[in-house]
Amino acid sequence: MGSPVRIGILGAGTVGGAVHDLVATGHLARFGVDAEVVKVFTRRPEGKPGYATAPELFTTDPAAVTGHPDVDIVVEVLGAGGAEDLRAQKEWVVDALRHGKPVATANKALLVAHGAEIWTAARESGRAVRFEACVGGGIPIIGPLTQSLAAERPAAIYGLLNGTSNYILTEMAQRSRSYEDALASAQALGYAEADPDADVSGRDAEAKLLLLASITFGARLMPGAIHRKGIERIHAIDFLYAARKGRATIKSVALARGVDGALEAMVSPMVVPERHPIAGIDGVTNALFFKGQVSDGGAPGAGDWDYVFAGPGAGGGATAVAVLGDVQELVARSGDAPFLPVESIVSGVDSVRPQDDLRASFYVRFVVCDQSGIVGELCQILGEQRINVSEIWQLEHTEEELESLVGRGKGGTVAHEILPFVITLEETSVGQLRQALERIAQKDYVLAEPLWLPIWGA
Ligand code: HSE
Repeated sequence: MGSPVRIGILGAGTVGGAVHDLVATGHLARFGVDAEVVKVFTRRPEGKPGYATAPELFTTDPAAVTGHPDVDIVVEVLGAGGAEDLRAQKEWVVDALRHGKPVATANKALLVAHGAEIWTAARESGRAVRFEACVGGGIPIIGPLTQSLAAERPAAIYGLLNGTSNYILTEMAQRSRSYEDALASAQALGYAEADPDADVSGRDAEAKLLLLASITFGARLMPGAIHRKGIERIHAIDFLYAARKGRATIKSVALARGVDGALEAMVSPMVVPERHPIAGIDGVTNALFFKGQVSDGGAPGAGDWDYVFAGPGAGGGATAVAVLGDVQELVARSGDAPFLPVESIVSGVDSVRPQDDLRASFYVRFVVCDQSGIVGELCQILGEQRINVSEIWQLEHTEEELESLVGRGKGGTVAHEILPFVITLEETSVGQLRQALERIAQKDYVLAEPLWLPIWGA
């Protein structure tokens, strides 16, 4: 074994601390990599757990890592911040490359916002940027998609890409915990982003999906280009309707697929039938299903199976494992093989399908002030919008459930007047549904904005 590989880390949060500790305790030595951490950038060095014995490692100057003469590889694990933070982080990564240092990053928001400049700097410097930890926490996804499965032709990628959201929905479904309570636990366990709104709004999963769409379909999209819905408005009763009436549960699904030369992509909570494997993937677990056209070769039974990647999707330890897998790969390749999947993709799609043209069957949950004739009127509006109603579901509810749906005492509404029910719809477009719901929202008896979710595969 030669001299140790010297690692500089940008970031000393949950992931940075875990990377440091794994290196310090010799976790790369198993495959013959002798490594040490020589510098760590953090804005706030005081009281970082895991570093108590080595305060001299810290610097508050990022250039002391990116330009450090002894650093061989830069690990960038700065949590996503606002646009200004991302611009600064991009400068630091580019600076590391220009100093001849390959980079392993866990910062998906950075790659989505500034990928083009980072790939250019990587190409110009002849140094690699690897980003396995950006998607799916500890699960190997980027490596398999860009290397092992390079000969596949993608048809679709879909799955659960945000551990925090999956944890919260699982806790709500299985333990009847409130959304707020489950979110607080996800934060305490270190799953959530610094700004947990990025998780629950679907932005974190969107960034991961955009990276996946770029390496599989060659689609370069910016946040906001695809349909995105968070989990914030899912209520405990939605699980009751999904389970008792639909034999299903609710999962936050990220999906990109090629349809007639166009890319369809979205991140949204979906009603997923219990029989689909996604329905059984619980807790902080992430899963990615990859459907390839080569393996779907027309043989009997072909197409029933997708490539499946699953495992711990968040948390410092799992993410650090992925980062160090990249470090190991950089050492094996001497960091000098620019890893530029975006440039090397033969585009499989020509355009992105407009959000309003996405088609699905839908679950729509209404909360109204009970009076006669409501269902008839809603169905008429849906019919005028050329939307076919499939089923109407209604359950008994406790007073507490009813009041929590509209906020206690809102508009003088008392529990016995609050009526939730669900209408499921045959396949229609997002645009048609939105138009119908805009008309419905104007009705006096509507107490809360209707919640609409695609029904998976129906
Ligand atoms: N906050 C992310 C999640 C962690 O919950 O999945 C890794 O991106």
